[in-house]
Amino acid sequence: MGETKVIRIEDVSEFVGQTVKIGVWLRQKRGSGKIAFLQLRDGTGFMQGVVSVGDVDEATFKLAEHLKQESSFYVTGEIHRDSRSEFGFEMAVSNIEIVGESEDYPITPKEHGTDFLFDERHLYLRHQKPFATMKIRDEIIRAIYDFFHKDGFLKLDSPIITDSAPEGTTELFPVKYFDKDAYLSQTGQLYAEAGAMAFGKVYDFGPTFRAEKSSTRRHLTEFWMIDAEMAWMHQEDSLKVQERFIAYLIERVVDNCQVELKMLGRDVEKLRAYTKLPYPRISYDDAVKLLQDNDFKIEWGVDFGSPEETFLAKRFNSPFFVVNFPKAIKAFYMKRHPSRDDVVISADMLAPEGYGEIIGGSERDTDYDYLKQQIISQHLDLSEYSWYLDLRKYGTVPHSGFGLGLERLIRFIAGEDHIRETIPFPRTLNRLHP
Ligand code: 4AD
Ligand code: MG
Repeated sequence: MGETKVIRIEDVSEFVGQTVKIGVWLRQKRGSGKIAFLQLRDGTGFMQGVVSVGDVDEATFKLAEHLKQESSFYVTGEIHRDSRSEFGFEMAVSNIEIVGESEDYPITPKEHGTDFLFDERHLYLRHQKPFATMKIRDEIIRAIYDFFHKDGFLKLDSPIITDSAPEGTTELFPVKYFDKDAYLSQTGQLYAEAGAMAFGKVYDFGPTFRAEKSSTRRHLTEFWMIDAEMAWMHQEDSLKVQERFIAYLIERVVDNCQVELKMLGRDVEKLRAYTKLPYPRISYDDAVKLLQDNDFKIEWGVDFGSPEETFLAKRFNSPFFVVNFPKAIKAFYMKRHPSRDDVVISADMLAPEGYGEIIGGSERDTDYDYLKQQIISQHLDLSEYSWYLDLRKYGTVPHSGFGLGLERLIRFIAGEDHIRETIPFPRTLNRLHP
């Protein structure tokens, strides 16, 4: 007789009727004196193991009865298809070999508060909701690379330590860089612009940092951003890239994460509807009018808050763009409107159902003197942007780009209440541990 094959739960469907061995942890158990039902997980999936008095020796049955939550062991047994089981398969257990004991695991089957769960995040990651969310995160990350690769983009990484503050100076994390002052990057965009002039179409993907003093459901202080930048491209074509990009990411999750979406209670048909293109566009002007007509006390010139975004989202019931924001509330590099000096050629993509902004982008101004003036008037240090101005000095071309917040997108696709659920170890105003 050969050795019993060691497999993973995600592959059990290929081993129906066979005896196999799996390295598992115990999630929960219940049973009577004659039978024990073990809820097992191995990191690739979940399944039930059934231990019956008649099938195993007495010592093994005793062992099964005394297993503690999150103890680790090898379990051996025959795989059965089981339509009553929520995972479709069961193991009729014939042997158990303990590997690691577990005493007083803190996250018990009773309800726990969110703060507690995030204090225990290093353990909470083992549970079903984080499991489903992190699988979706992983699928989205892979889909991002696939999309850009197929679309002819080069991945060009931007630095994390920087001396520039493209999105304004109020939300910076300072770091001491030998004897100089530096910051953690807010966005890789300016570097991506240099990249676009060298490689045509580029993207970066990395952690970005904002010292957000507000604690909301959609702000992290450390989050992952994708900056995409395209030379020889005007804003209208950039919007087309953005909507194809988001529709593709949603489609990939719908196609490959059915089980995870179900675990999270996310309606797949609703998501599928969000892959229909084009996404609606509304100008900032029209959005303000619409809000005012519906009793919002918003003045032209201010940014939208969550209630405004949620109202607009209800009108469209799909991801949508708000285009041409007031110049005064946007970053220094955005392209001037050809016939108005109070707005810029910019767009935010907002997700439906009140999830809010997921992308910020614009066409970039190409004029050396104008940008120099902008840097000065926004109180940025001109010497730090000399290299950026070089891009306008040596063969400037029309170009556009955008930044997608990974965790904002996951929150929307997975239907998460709070953005902290979407990143393995969240960093927020009040959380740096674990
Ligand atoms: O709209 P933002 O500030 O745009 C930029 O930084 C541009 N330089 C990007 C570009 O054009 N290359 O940020 C881009 C996106 C937002 O739409 C949002 O999804 C996400 O980054 N984001 C955050 N996500 C989580 N927590 C925060 N504090 C975030 N701030 C922005
Ligand atoms: Mg923005």
